[in-house]
Amino acid sequence: MSMIPITRPETGDAEIAAATRVLRSGWLTQGPEVAAFETEFAALVGSPHACAVANCTNALHLALLALGIGHGDEVATVSHSFIATANAVRYVGAEPVFVDIDATTLGMDAAALATAITPRTRAVLVVHQVGMPCDLSGLLAVASAHGLPIIEDAACALGSEIRLDGAWQWIGRPAGRIACFSFHPRKVISCGEGGMLTTADPTLDARFRLLRQHGMTVPDTARHGAAQVIFEQYAELGYNYRMTDLQAAVGREQLRRLPWILERRRHLAQRYHTELGQRVPSVTLAVQPPWARSNWQSYPVWLPAGCDQRAVMQAMLDAGIATRRGIMNAHREPPYGGHAWTLPVSEAAQDRIILLPLFPALEEADQDRVVTALAAALA
Ligand SMILES: Cc1ncc(COP(=O)(O)O)c(C=O)c1O
Repeated sequence: MSMIPITRPETGDAEIAAATRVLRSGWLTQGPEVAAFETEFAALVGSPHACAVANCTNALHLALLALGIGHGDEVATVSHSFIATANAVRYVGAEPVFVDIDATTLGMDAAALATAITPRTRAVLVVHQVGMPCDLSGLLAVASAHGLPIIEDAACALGSEIRLDGAWQWIGRPAGRIACFSFHPRKVISCGEGGMLTTADPTLDARFRLLRQHGMTVPDTARHGAAQVIFEQYAELGYNYRMTDLQAAVGREQLRRLPWILERRRHLAQRYHTELGQRVPSVTLAVQPPWARSNWQSYPVWLPAGCDQRAVMQAMLDAGIATRRGIMNAHREPPYGGHAWTLPVSEAAQDRIILLPLFPALEEADQDRVVTALAAALA
């Protein structure tokens, strides 16, 4: 019996050729491929600017830095996210204030945000969790009423769409001030590791470019191509958050595959919906609000209340099927312990949801095996 993994990156000859092209070029780190990847990414999501970095954690860090958030500040965010979201807030010396989520979108609850804002709040960091857009219009209304910028953690949300002011747009077309994406292999496209920041603000984009390269005033690509000697300066404390040209070249090929990847993911998600609805009625399925189109980066199902999540996952594993539990809660981990947060929906989502295998190459026969195994595990 073959093992069905939770995901499998979609790569092939095009990515191999792209990596080979870079290896032969003599320029391996941030260079022309990164610049081209940024241009193509920006055009795809509809953003005036896109700046590539080494991963999404770097992107979140730079987003907070560029907005001037630091010691003594609070950032309203969710606990129900990969720990990178909360960690980025701590990197700049600020404190995350955890806001509960909405059970349908698994994103920040706009009404709960309204009660979490204090005089020290400087920004709102929302997450489009597992690719499902959060309620951006409700959250933007609350944030802008308090004069707060929104950063979107869109790590999982490339290709997801949201209807704002009556028009559909891709996540990453600036709705908040900055959106941050990940190209980790669990995401819809991957170049091993990688991240991207999008914004409409050229000043912020310039800050990202400075900070990702140790505050270097003249990028090494410019010095390399110059006919005259240029001495660079290091204007402020910065970081090495560069993406390599190897990653970017692979990323560019992944962008070309994205339309097919999205189509396949949406087809398989719809199929899960139909099959699980008929054969496993005791689970609660994810529902897209009318204003959201998920990329289905993951497929979550809520197990019945009181069900033993670990036992169900073990039964699935014994049947050769990898699953994952619901998204973690940062406040339950030691770095964020010691504060009594009231986050009932976030905690229930971690404890009651399981994520089922979903990736473009998943065959329908294997998907049927997943449904059968889940039905048996719950029987
Ligand atoms: C919601 C969310 N934010 C941030 C990250 C961090 O992304 P990266 O691994 O590219 O640093 C992840 C990665 O899993 C994530 O799921």
